[in-house]
Amino acid sequence: MVKTKLAIMASGTGSNFLAIMEKITQENWPIEITRLVVDHADANVINYANQFNVPVLVVDYHDGKKETEAKIIRQLQADKVSGIVLAGYMRILSAEFISHYPNRILNIHPALLPSFPGRHGIQDAYDYGVKVTGVTIHFVDATVDGGQIVAQSPVDIYDNETVEHLEPRIHEVEHRLYPTTIQNLVQRGVFQ
Ligand code: GRF
Repeated sequence: MVKTKLAIMASGTGSNFLAIMEKITQENWPIEITRLVVDHADANVINYANQFNVPVLVVDYHDGKKETEAKIIRQLQADKVSGIVLAGYMRILSAEFISHYPNRILNIHPALLPSFPGRHGIQDAYDYGVKVTGVTIHFVDATVDGGQIVAQSPVDIYDNETVEHLEPRIHEVEHRLYPTTIQNLVQRGVFQ
């Protein structure tokens, strides 16, 4: 079975990383996560990578953004990955970086884009008072949260719901939508 090699880039908790790894391994999908790239040496996601024996590249942006991105590209080229999955990576990638993987970098956003882009999608949608929010998966281009949309799933906001109650419901949808979307794109040969 020829496997599609992908890298995951993350900064924090890693619940999406975990959901993706569980699906790939449980259902034996033809996908190999060849590398986790993380920009914080103490990020919890590293524990999940160790659990699944995924090699980790820890980078330090104090070395400079240009140098750091060049280091990541060198590693991913050596790993021969054909696409990148951003799972809570809290850095903006430069146009130069993205040009190495045009339409082959995916991101997940916890709101229905183009509404509520940026770092606080769940809170911003909640504060605005929309009745339906959700999850978006999109390709990454040089704009912030503006690339082509690949998949979306709506989540109703209940009357009198607190944001603390809403948050885990959004994440639950993320954990279902991201793995299946990745698998779908791999099946369609998008990363070839
Ligand atoms: C998710 O809510 C994702 O939508 C956003 O960052 C969060 C990452 O969570 N881009 P986790 O680290 O996967 O738990």
